[in-house]
Amino acid sequence: MCGIFGYCNYLVEKPREEIIDILTDGLQKLEYRGYDSAGLAISGDAPGSALIFRETGKVAALKQKIIAQDFDRKALFNSHVGIAHTRWATHGEPLEKNCHPQKSDPTAEFLVVHNGIITNYQDIKTLLQNKGFVFESDTDTECIAKLCKHIYDTNIKNNVDLDFQQLMKQVLLELEGSYGMLVKSSHFPNELIGTRKGSPLLIGVKSDQKLKVDFVDVEFPDVSEQQTLSPHFAATATTSNNLLAPLTAHDHLRQSQSRAFLSEDGVPKPVEFFFSSDPASVVQHTKKVLFLEDDDIAHIYDGELHIHRAKKEAGDLGIRNIQTLEMELAQIMKGPYKHFMAKEIFEQPESTFNTMRGRIDFVNHAVRLGGLKSWLSSIRRSKRIIMIACGTSYHSCIATRSIFEELTEIPVVVELASDFLDRKSPVFRDDVCVFVSQSGETADTILALQYCSDRGALTVGVVNSVGSSISRQTNCGVHINAGPEIGVASTKAYTSQYIALVMIALSLSDDRISKTQRRIEIIDGLKKIPQQIKEVLKLEDTVKDLCSSSLNDQKSLLLLGRGYQYASALEGALKIKEISYMHSEGVLAGELKHGVLALVDDQLPIIAFATRDSLFPKVMSAIAQVTARSGRPIVICNDENDIADAQKLLAILKVPTTVDCLQGLLNIIPLQLISYWLAVNRNINVDFPRNLAKSVTVE
Ligand code: UD1
Ligand code: F6R
Repeated sequence: MCGIFGYCNYLVEKPREEIIDILTDGLQKLEYRGYDSAGLAISGDAPGSALIFRETGKVAALKQKIIAQDFDRKALFNSHVGIAHTRWATHGEPLEKNCHPQKSDPTAEFLVVHNGIITNYQDIKTLLQNKGFVFESDTDTECIAKLCKHIYDTNIKNNVDLDFQQLMKQVLLELEGSYGMLVKSSHFPNELIGTRKGSPLLIGVKSDQKLKVDFVDVEFPDVSEQQTLSPHFAATATTSNNLLAPLTAHDHLRQSQSRAFLSEDGVPKPVEFFFSSDPASVVQHTKKVLFLEDDDIAHIYDGELHIHRAKKEAGDLGIRNIQTLEMELAQIMKGPYKHFMAKEIFEQPESTFNTMRGRIDFVNHAVRLGGLKSWLSSIRRSKRIIMIACGTSYHSCIATRSIFEELTEIPVVVELASDFLDRKSPVFRDDVCVFVSQSGETADTILALQYCSDRGALTVGVVNSVGSSISRQTNCGVHINAGPEIGVASTKAYTSQYIALVMIALSLSDDRISKTQRRIEIIDGLKKIPQQIKEVLKLEDTVKDLCSSSLNDQKSLLLLGRGYQYASALEGALKIKEISYMHSEGVLAGELKHGVLALVDDQLPIIAFATRDSLFPKVMSAIAQVTARSGRPIVICNDENDIADAQKLLAILKVPTTVDCLQGLLNIIPLQLISYWLAVNRNINVDFPRNLAKSVTVE
């Protein structure tokens, strides 16, 4: 998920280093959204020049790069425009050349940071290449910067003097797709354009002076300018084009003043503007913000903010309000959700996608884990894989152990870190030890890691927090890229760990011909998972009803699963225990008759996982044992017609079907929702359940 941040100071003197800090801090506030590279542009020493810094990896890496460069950090700017970006690779790998800002030409007359996708960029690129432009990146964004220059040059050649927003109106006419973007230009020093279509962009305003009015008027082109707005060229791009038919000369005088920024005495006043794709990076500076609407073109110059549109539509009120954000940072980051846990549950279509992003080639059925590629042959040679973790992370190991063994044909043991240490379990040099941890800071897991490292085993991390102890101390590993998990109960980390572990198993087995079909089936299955999770999330209303009726006021809840679904039962029970404080137990369905059946009566709520896999008949027989004792279980299945005696059940929760080894990714979602709603109904502070901490850094 890309992020945009821009900063303009007007009559507010700032040294260059402070401007850089504001820009990089702004980017760091967007880090929680996930990204793979970052960059920024500020003004250079020579008039019209720019300093551009870009780096793959984290903002910290970009900062390091800036520190290493030689330039005048103390140079003072009374007025200045800086733009910055965090990028999630879409068009083009995460390489420095593909980072934003993208530039129009070697001297960077136009610089662009952009979120979204320009769908007709190939047409534009071809057209511009035919006109002599040389592209250096694989991005769609570069064509915007070059198009700005092309249109600017053509206008100049025709003696047409456009201002920045007029130029941008012509540029935007040629673009199809979605964007949130900022444009900085040496031709318009200390001016900035911010515009959006389908991708959010807001502007924070910071001024000691009270704004005259709390809105900004929208400005529309006059008749003569309207005539200069030529039609799209995309359709004709490959032939000759009618782009930039000669334009009418235009008066370059500013025709309006922004009422909000007028001072009593007409003397310009100091002001700062913060542009961002996310309020999280603006609130620390100012709570006065204006949200742009699609097709708005915000133009900053001379300390004023102007909003332009290419044409007036019916219903447009003609103003944009400057609102006061009452929310604190935490609230903003929660989005429309009441709790982080809810946000994180509903984020899973994106977080699971992000775990796979750039790593699975769904067309060629190939998996490439950058953090493991040079270690794969050593791992393949190991005699045993030991997965070590705690809590939910341990459950993700249980969930994937079987597919790991099936694909790699290496024996896999799954260990709870504390128990593994208590037993002083023997570890050898030809063991591979995999440490799974959301935080990367769990004390028991770190101690187990040190124990295994001391014994010469190869250590692999599967971690969410980049830069955490486990991520640093392991020989190699995979970041699950789920984005920060803030709710104490782990939800999106579980599904992402699960996928990361499956991807590791797929990587390890990509040299085995005998596994080809199975690997293809799993990779095809993974592709559909984010969309299928979206489907399962639609169960929320049904779950809510169950939680406020049959499951309300219960003391205990039993979860039954076997095979792949044993992990779902354990994880579901842990979720319910930790946030609703209701006793809950995950039971291997095959163990029911060995003792647990004694608990079953017409009172005890039971949830059984009966999705289609080879063990389905056995699960059905466990359900029959329950209903024969007047139990009325809730069944999670793929189709109600799969279930005999459905009338004896309390409820059926239907989830889409996927490959057996991935079904747990979908089956756990209703349980996450159940635990959440049980807790909300009990007025429990879901994000901070009693006695628990997000990161357990003590033994
Ligand atoms: C890395 C970059 C990612 C970039 C991509 C481009 C980081 C953190 N990741 O992702 O931003 O888009 O290259 O190709 O900079 N590691 C451990 N232990 C762990 C987890 C990871 O040692 O528990 C190591 C890996 O072996 C690797 C490095 O950390 O050397 C980064 O791992 P990961 O983020 O998974 O690698 P990529 O997906 O290649
Ligand atoms: C449960 C939960 C904990 C953690 C466990 C390990 O919802 O969050 O059980 O899974 O404390 O933490 P990490 O994964 O950070 O090592």
